[in-house]
Amino acid sequence: MVVHMGAGWPCAAFCAANPYVKAVMTQSPASITTIRESPDMTDTIIIKDAMLVNEGRQQRTDVLVAKGRIERLDSNISSPARATIIDAQKLLLLPGMIDDQVHFREPGLTQKGDLASESAAAVAGGITSFMEMPNTSPTTTTRQALADKYAMALNRCAANYAFYFGGSNDNIEEIRRLPAADACGIKVFMGASTGNMLVDDEEILDQIFAAAMIPVTTHCEHTPTILENLERATRRFGKDIPASAHPEIRNVEACLKSSQLAIKLAKKHGTKLHVLHLTTAEEMALFTAGDMCDKQITAEVCVHHLHFTADDYQQLGNQIKCNPAIKEARHREALIKAVVDGRIDIIATDHAPHLPAEKNTGNYISDAAGLPLAQHALPCAYELVHTGRISIERLVQMTAHNPAIRFQVSERGFIREGYFADLVLLQPDLAWTVHNDQCLSRCGWTPFAGQEFHGSIHTTMVNGQIVYSGNKIHNHTNGQRLIFDRH
Ligand code: DOR
Repeated sequence: MVVHMGAGWPCAAFCAANPYVKAVMTQSPASITTIRESPDMTDTIIIKDAMLVNEGRQQRTDVLVAKGRIERLDSNISSPARATIIDAQKLLLLPGMIDDQVHFREPGLTQKGDLASESAAAVAGGITSFMEMPNTSPTTTTRQALADKYAMALNRCAANYAFYFGGSNDNIEEIRRLPAADACGIKVFMGASTGNMLVDDEEILDQIFAAAMIPVTTHCEHTPTILENLERATRRFGKDIPASAHPEIRNVEACLKSSQLAIKLAKKHGTKLHVLHLTTAEEMALFTAGDMCDKQITAEVCVHHLHFTADDYQQLGNQIKCNPAIKEARHREALIKAVVDGRIDIIATDHAPHLPAEKNTGNYISDAAGLPLAQHALPCAYELVHTGRISIERLVQMTAHNPAIRFQVSERGFIREGYFADLVLLQPDLAWTVHNDQCLSRCGWTPFAGQEFHGSIHTTMVNGQIVYSGNKIHNHTNGQRLIFDRH
């Protein structure tokens, strides 16, 4: 048995179908391994000779998957009579990504995407569980709206799911009555973005942070600062504000002011705070490195902010308009440094599909903010491994282990005997190119079109079933509701 210890592993002891095959066009390189399926697609799967990356180390192993769970991790597991065998000699075996920030648009905005379409895109990108945001229509700001969303998701998601409860200027009583296991967290838009969910009353913010018994996740951008900057840009450019002005309008000061306020309130009330999609070097000074299990306040970066810089507005324009804005290269460098040194804890996507027409109205202000990212989640993040910026162990920690810890997800996020078999086989270090016509998201485009990536998703398993392999979605409905270990 070959064992490589990974560097920088701070949390060794975790705090404790409808068969439907949809062909998608060739996305990633031709498979270099084989999947031998038993005729009836039995629930028993043996992954042979995979390089397992888990809990800070690498280890060559076989895995026996049965009844939805990881039954055994061992060398040389022999095949039962009816089993699907995956030869994974050339593949990395990772716990599936738990994406704690997606916008899947259902209910109310399903022209852009819905739970079924976007969760299919997600499993193609190595995401096995998602946590979905409340800026739908209606917004998820009542317990009834939350219950309705869970009812909509039942038997319709390719990946496991949970939903955020949205904070608003007038739902503090609903927040106080929310059972701790019902939502993954409370989402507070401390800056205005898609969906009119801004909470700008400081007194209300104070009450939300005081009342929250579950993680508060924040979108941090100070709206009055943004509005002042927008006024200045309008005076300068008139109606034709270029996309490249976006990081000057949604600037460093706006992000910093708002993140500072969130952290101040979390410290005052002892709130579990997770600051979403950070984008600036200046904000990195607000966070500390350390063991995820010991942190009250945690930080997140999204794949597009690790990938693009302000230079890309020239070619991609408002296609990469998103909130918070993609900023100058020095910020991306600072984000990567914080990923390496542990000040940032989680990598997510902020998958936010909009139709091409909504991104191309011909006007900066009316062009929608947000990018479809789920289908390329792990391949995009893997570029940091391919280019030697982070270790594969750190990537796994930030995409699977840490979200499980932060949100107290039960029996997922790690590859352990007895845990749910939410697994990804990733083919490393083989170049492939992204094309728009491969998109599974309903919006039908990707900001990565033409981009070369070097890690591709060979197979995704959710609850012990192969939901994605050979560039095909095999099961659209195997996702289960996430359970949270909250007592
Ligand atoms: O760019 C963004 N788009 N940022 C958000 O916070 C929301 C998202 C959306 O829902 O479109």
